[in-house]
Amino acid sequence: MNQPVVGIIMGSDSDLPVMQEAAKVLQELQVPYEMTIVSAHRTPDRLYDYAQQAADRGLQVVIAGAGGAAHLPGMVAAISPLPVVGVPVKTSTLSGEDSLLSIVQMPPGVPVATVAINGARNAGILAAQILSTAQPELRQRIIDFKQALETMVMSKVEAMAKQQGG
Ligand code: RP5
Repeated sequence: MNQPVVGIIMGSDSDLPVMQEAAKVLQELQVPYEMTIVSAHRTPDRLYDYAQQAADRGLQVVIAGAGGAAHLPGMVAAISPLPVVGVPVKTSTLSGEDSLLSIVQMPPGVPVATVAINGARNAGILAAQILSTAQPELRQRIIDFKQALETMVMSKVEAMAKQQGG
């Protein structure tokens, strides 16, 4: 793959089953990415270095996923000028509402574009859409992607109509 332009980070390897959905859709859209673990609480120095160097290393969007007291996306947004998409990872104790509120309730001046609980696929799509504003070929792939969604739903509309004898 070419130089990564999206950085996918997560607080723990236990977040990987959720976060790999972001990677999958970026692959589908042919957007180069990198993926690694950065823990806000367990590796604070690594978090600081990652966030401070991300833009200079050529990344253009960061997707950050974490669960529980999920400070990773907000701290990256605090340190880096890059847009940050936050993925609240579902937890076993509070079903991810803790993650969601930790990520979405950022103070004015430091936004994190927060997707749904476990919404890593949408995080990948949103990152690609952000990049597509300056990349006509990627914009066309997004248009095709949305067209495929419509085609899929319309085939289900027809199948349901047939089941009802329509
Ligand atoms: C967070 O704590 C991680 O993002 C993960 O969602 C959660 C649990 O981490 P592990 O104990 O599974 O490593 O920092």
